[in-house]
Amino acid sequence: MQEGAPADLASVAPLAETAEWRAFVEAAHRADRRAGTLRVVEAAGLSVDLSTQAQSDELAAAGAALLAARDFEAARARLLEGGIANCTENRAAWHTALRAEEPPGRVAGRVLAERDRVRAFVRHVDAEGRFDSVVHIGIGGSDWGPKLVVAALGYAGTRRQMRFVSNIDGHAIEAGLIGLDPRRTLVVVSSKSFNTTETLHNADCALRWLREAGIADPWEQVVAVTANPDAARDMGVAPERTFTFWDWAGGRYSVWSAIGLPIALALGAEALDGLLQGAAAMDVHFATAPLAANGPVQLALAGLANRNAFGYASLNIAPYDARLVHLVPYLQQLEMESLGKSVDLEGRPVTVPTGPVVWGMPGTDGQHTFFQWLHQGPEGAPVDFIICREADHPYPEHHRLLVANCLAQREALLRGKSASVLEAELAPEESDPARAAWLARHKMHPGGRPSTLIVLPRLSAHALGALLALYEHKVFVQGLVWGINPYDQWGVEYGKVLASGIARELAGKAPAGGHDASTAYWVAQWGNGGM
Ligand code: F6P
Repeated sequence: MQEGAPADLASVAPLAETAEWRAFVEAAHRADRRAGTLRVVEAAGLSVDLSTQAQSDELAAAGAALLAARDFEAARARLLEGGIANCTENRAAWHTALRAEEPPGRVAGRVLAERDRVRAFVRHVDAEGRFDSVVHIGIGGSDWGPKLVVAALGYAGTRRQMRFVSNIDGHAIEAGLIGLDPRRTLVVVSSKSFNTTETLHNADCALRWLREAGIADPWEQVVAVTANPDAARDMGVAPERTFTFWDWAGGRYSVWSAIGLPIALALGAEALDGLLQGAAAMDVHFATAPLAANGPVQLALAGLANRNAFGYASLNIAPYDARLVHLVPYLQQLEMESLGKSVDLEGRPVTVPTGPVVWGMPGTDGQHTFFQWLHQGPEGAPVDFIICREADHPYPEHHRLLVANCLAQREALLRGKSASVLEAELAPEESDPARAAWLARHKMHPGGRPSTLIVLPRLSAHALGALLALYEHKVFVQGLVWGINPYDQWGVEYGKVLASGIARELAGKAPAGGHDASTAYWVAQWGNGGM
């Protein structure tokens, strides 16, 4: 054990030095990457089709051995039982407790009481009929979850107008408030820490807006959701309008807590319940399904082979569903804040690359944006295709075309198209064989590019909850294998500290200093204007 690491931390060997890791990587290289043999895992109502990933019996066995070597079963039990999963902050990562139908004993009372408070508040707002708009202020994990779910399930309309304001760019709050009637607007301020610059400044702005409308007690229209209720009270929010969650729920894992309040305000408590139930179903699947038929585990192993055996530096997310417009940023935060780490649990530099860059956009827009790069760029990237079996709109031909496009992209990535096939195709119209060969090289697709297809029955709250939990558990498994802590985010903290120092300098409240030449130049440029 490295000096300074917590004494009760289980010591694990640096990953690259383990025989199981080497065997896994070698098996991945020997596995078939083009056969596309059917391999579909059923997970909590979702079908996770891994047929177009590298596969072989040897790779499956090596994956299981790798997980055993990293003590997967004990780590999973620790996670699900609320043990210390986040060692640098010495706390649990117990998002599963927030959505369990019967939350575990230690936290059951608090979790159920807060769930009831959220629902009672929504009933009260509905009954009162006073607010026809909600301005939700929060950022990162206090924004993406509700924003994603409200856009996905409320695509055809919500019970009241919903505006989400996250960015410190003043245009965001301007757009968030414009055109709303202050007297009929409820402001929800969501922040785990209640200490985030963007959120506090935007909340301040919203309060001014209420005051300027002549509202005598603007706090009466403000609700807080936080793990720091004292800070909310100090700011002025009444305890009866403050909904709490706890430090053991990480920001990017918090949509299952009272952070889900805007979902219930927009879509009704049933939507929030369905979301929680779907995620809880995925938790049960993750906890009980055998490894070979375990969706999160198999998704994680495929990702490890792609990242570390085949060297793919990124993962493309392609939801073939226009309603999932915020899924990519949600998963970017989940994956990149969790897995963008360079030291292992013992504080040693990692010995293999960790979390990939996550990027993408809904298909079919992505096809006309970056799929060229996926098909013919020299690096390529694995793609997670996500689609619903059934649509909720009345245009069957649209859904047929959407499905066709999704399947076709996947097939093209797998199959590719060789130069010789292309030359044969070109021969009838190209009399010059040299030109045919040249053109064939331009049109060639390498193929053998991995992807996963995740099929939801339809975009219900239940299926969406299961989908998000699938990725949460995948991240856990990958973090475990890489030996890193998926539940802290020190890199974000450092930037926040520097930003607050520069903001003080720009306001003339602190002397500028200690910067590199370029930062000093720009601080002087803006600072001299008296910002
Ligand atoms: O982006 C960094 C982060 O700390 C996230 O983990 C978190 O979701 C976000 O800031 C917002 O933090 P808070 O909910 O405390 O305002």
